Amino acid sequence: GAMAEERALAMVTCTAPVNIAVIKYWGKRDNDLILPINSSLSVTLHQDQLKTTTTAAASRDFAEDRLWLNGEEADVGHPRLQACLREVRRLARKRRGGSAEDVAPLNLSYKIHIATENNFPTAAGLASSAAGYACLVSALARLYGVEGELSEVARRGSGSACRSMLGGFVQWQRGERPDGRDSLAQQVAPETHWPELRVLVLVVSGEKKQVGSTAGMQTSVDTSPLLKHRAEAVVPERLALMMRHIHERDFEGFGQLTMKDSNQFHATCLDTFPPIFYLNDLSRQIIALAHRFNAHHGRTKVAYTFDAGPNAVIFTLADTVAEFVEVVRRSFPPATNGDQFVRGLPVDSASLPEELLTAVVTEPVPGAVRYILHTKPGPGPQLLDDPSQHLLGADGLPRRCT
Ligand code: DP6
Repeated sequence: GAMAEERALAMVTCTAPVNIAVIKYWGKRDNDLILPINSSLSVTLHQDQLKTTTTAAASRDFAEDRLWLNGEEADVGHPRLQACLREVRRLARKRRGGSAEDVAPLNLSYKIHIATENNFPTAAGLASSAAGYACLVSALARLYGVEGELSEVARRGSGSACRSMLGGFVQWQRGERPDGRDSLAQQVAPETHWPELRVLVLVVSGEKKQVGSTAGMQTSVDTSPLLKHRAEAVVPERLALMMRHIHERDFEGFGQLTMKDSNQFHATCLDTFPPIFYLNDLSRQIIALAHRFNAHHGRTKVAYTFDAGPNAVIFTLADTVAEFVEVVRRSFPPATNGDQFVRGLPVDSASLPEELLTAVVTEPVPGAVRYILHTKPGPGPQLLDDPSQHLLGADGLPRRCT
């Protein structure tokens, strides 16, 4: 019996990013395995501005599996969370069957405690499930010493989560196999590839409860002929084109295709029966504003994209940020006295030429945009090796309440 002694407590903390799709995922061909009807492509956002942090701990002293979301205890029995846990443990078992262990193995039957929090308000409606599941899977994999292909596991938590397992520009290949082994995320280009690319998240006020992505895309698959056409005929071509625009850092091509694909996603929502509306009056005002801005400049300077909620995400280049932020501030003046209207990466002040104001800024709608978050492409999940950053204490309970 040369087996190393089992560790009594192990704890790992990871962070993971949000991603925003420029070729949208909408529709599954397998609901349990989360296999999509079309490939998709996204930009991973920088974790300095948007990230999830997750601590996973396993101990022989834990009586049951437990989960805390932003300091509040939550249901650990969620089927998708359980699927991720099961898959990581399966990979750990497989790995142990193979090579000799360099570290004492962590007993796979120990109960686990998981604490997770976002550095952005959940109420802001920013897609948190992608970062959340990417972070959970990263932390669990580290805890159990599993390496290699993990996007397949994150996909089981939320489809879009598989793309948050990598930084920069990421493709999720739909795959062909019924078991999903080839439905994986792949990096198209690293976050350093396009240094001038910037992202402005326009966090809007007063959003109500939306139709969730999971339920919404199921109804679309069941009822929308446009979605079927999109998946079969439109996306394959667009994906190839988008990869070329990214490789060539062609903002004109990238921006136009990003807007068109967002618009087609929302068209499939309208084509769903009963129809789903994620765009509202404000979204349409932002879309019109972006087109007026581009028309004024005679080229694509900003590109919008919208997911299953009312926040707008704007792609632009660094040299356009100050001017466009000022255009947004003039169009949607902050309701409060304006501090913290712009968050994240610094934004220079800009004064707008009179012709631009006249051509682009129409009747202001005060308070419609709560704030603007300025960020850029960033890396994939990170391991935090400073133990003071663990969200759980040595007793396995949350350290601080939020
Ligand atoms: C509109 O990944 O949230 O954001 O796989 O059911 O968890 P599930 O759905 P989810 O869907 C994301 C849809 C989208 C487009 C995208 O991110 O590609």
